[in-house]
Amino acid sequence: MRVLVSGGAGYIGSHTVVHLTAAGHDVLVVDNFGNAKPAVMARLDALTNTHIPVHAFDLTDRDKTERLFATEQVDAVVHFAGLKAVGDSVQRPLDYYENNLQSTFSLLRAMRRHGCSTLVFSSSATVYGDQAPLPYREDYEPLQANSPYGRTKVMIETVLRDVAHIDPSWRIAVLRYFNPVGAHPSGAIGEDPQGIPNNLMPFIAQVAVGRRDRLRIFGDDYPTTDGTCERDYIHVEDLAYGHVAALNRIASTDEPIRTWNLGTGRGTSVLELVKAFERASGMPIPYDIVGRRTGDLPASWADPTRANEELGWVATRTVDDMCADTWRWQSQNPNGYEDV
Ligand code: UFG
Repeated sequence: MRVLVSGGAGYIGSHTVVHLTAAGHDVLVVDNFGNAKPAVMARLDALTNTHIPVHAFDLTDRDKTERLFATEQVDAVVHFAGLKAVGDSVQRPLDYYENNLQSTFSLLRAMRRHGCSTLVFSSSATVYGDQAPLPYREDYEPLQANSPYGRTKVMIETVLRDVAHIDPSWRIAVLRYFNPVGAHPSGAIGEDPQGIPNNLMPFIAQVAVGRRDRLRIFGDDYPTTDGTCERDYIHVEDLAYGHVAALNRIASTDEPIRTWNLGTGRGTSVLELVKAFERASGMPIPYDIVGRRTGDLPASWADPTRANEELGWVATRTVDDMCADTWRWQSQNPNGYEDV
């Protein structure tokens, strides 16, 4: 299939481009490079041994989106593009609603006009909110995220369900990611956040490589095994392959829309991740325990049974693999793609 990957220069998008290409798909990328570096494209060409064409524009631009579909054959879309920082979304709610919703609307309209009805959408475990029982299951309702970012995901999921309800020719996969970490085992692509990382793994990696002095651990008085928060960390390579599996499944089913969790089903605490990273890198990760971060849940992990059974997909990489691959990427690229 000819697959358009929106946000294909980003962290999860770039890893997915590699897996889609390896599975025999012909991939093209659209990215506004708002949170991704153009240098990633050359790395993707080298990793895939082909040329991945890229269209550099913002999908909120309906005319440009329409022109893309008018000039390129597109059989399926994997839609990653969007703003994604929880804290930032609290400060800039309008930007998040406008960007994440409008880009999806112009994509859906252009797809419809040009006869493309196969879509894989990047959603998030954040849609389960703080009331859902563990482990999170796809059939849980009501969805109620507690940040503007998370609410854009709930809203888009709702839009997709309404669209698929009235037009059952759609083939839509909604993938709810847990905590993506790790990097391609070559060390050629990985996560390269702008500024100070919000997320735990890139922060740990930057401490290990000497870009930051110390990690701050947000709270050790949660009702968990060691008092620090537990998350379902999933290797970005497993996650990327999940998109290939989802695309295979929706191409051969008559269900207009289906949702799958992509997680391991296991929780790892902040302290456990720190220790695993120290083992993998051989570097000390000095840390201070500080107060809780507003909005953090004590624990979050998936029930991945539906994806295991229906997609034939299982997350196979361990926390030690996640740390080893993150360290390879970070130590080979101490300043991320800036080094290119
Ligand atoms: N943490 C620290 N120090 C840091 C950063 C994080 O102690 O410097 C802790 C957090 O308090 C939390 C854990 O590490 O307990 C994980 O935090 P992350 O920011 O890495 O991940 P979150 O679970 O908060 O957020 C992730 C995604 C979001 C998504 C959310 C809910 O980044 O996009 O899961 O699914 F919305």
